[in-house]
Amino acid sequence: EDVKLPEEKPVIGIIGGSGVYDLEGLEDTRWETVTSPFGAPSDQILRGRLGEVEMVFLPRHGRGHRLAPSEINYRANIDALKRAGVTEIVSVSACGSFEERLAPGTFVIVDQFIDRTFAREKSFFGTGLVAHVSMADPVCSRLGDALEGAAAAKGIPVVRGGTYLAMEGPQFSSRAESELYRSWNCQVIGMTNMPEAKLAREAELCYATVAMVTDYDCWHPDHENVDVSAVIRVLTGNAENARSLVRHVAPVLGQRREACAAGCHHALDNALITAPEV
Ligand code: ADE
Repeated sequence: EDVKLPEEKPVIGIIGGSGVYDLEGLEDTRWETVTSPFGAPSDQILRGRLGEVEMVFLPRHGRGHRLAPSEINYRANIDALKRAGVTEIVSVSACGSFEERLAPGTFVIVDQFIDRTFAREKSFFGTGLVAHVSMADPVCSRLGDALEGAAAAKGIPVVRGGTYLAMEGPQFSSRAESELYRSWNCQVIGMTNMPEAKLAREAELCYATVAMVTDYDCWHPDHENVDVSAVIRVLTGNAENARSLVRHVAPVLGQRREACAAGCHHALDNALITAPEV
């Protein structure tokens, strides 16, 4: 396989969520088709650069938002990015908020996930080759540092740390569910970051999420229950912040010359359990 080793050169992958179907400001862009043995990725990838830094963008739901969260082929998406040479993934995702202080417009650099999804392929392993990677720290702390720094430098309201509840959808939560997740101390909710984070770990790619708060889900007595128009309205207002964050984090991440110090590029070192063939 001609998959590039992460040590060679950072290539920053951006997975854009709802409302983010393009990466304006990218230079020398071209849409490329990547095929994967795991099936069809959500769309072509948009290759380009920001200054000296190579970038690859993938719209998670496809251009025009054609794929529901349960219809996305997460394995094909992560595999396609890996094949495209990507070494670190920044996921940009809309989310609901479970805390008053996390108002719409806030960018949360989440550091934990609770995976409540159930209708998705979640591993590259199985059928003859078994591996168990660690998900104790599911987010690359190095990417988290860079994202937090870039957001703060640009004056974007940012909160470091938080637990993201991944739900199956496509319906939003009932109020009882919303209250349950609040009682679990979750900070935000979305429908897509799992199994993405698990698959990125198995693919030995750094992964971090910028969860952009669009709503208070349905628990807040003083706010309307979430609906799609509210999500899109807030996202449209935030588009410039999201672009600005990506522009300012790229040169920082582009400086890496050794494998990720957080260990992401060696996630499989102690994970394989299947006996080698004799
Ligand atoms: N994406 C944006 N807001 C959301 C919410 N309240 N629940 C699930 N996914 C979301």
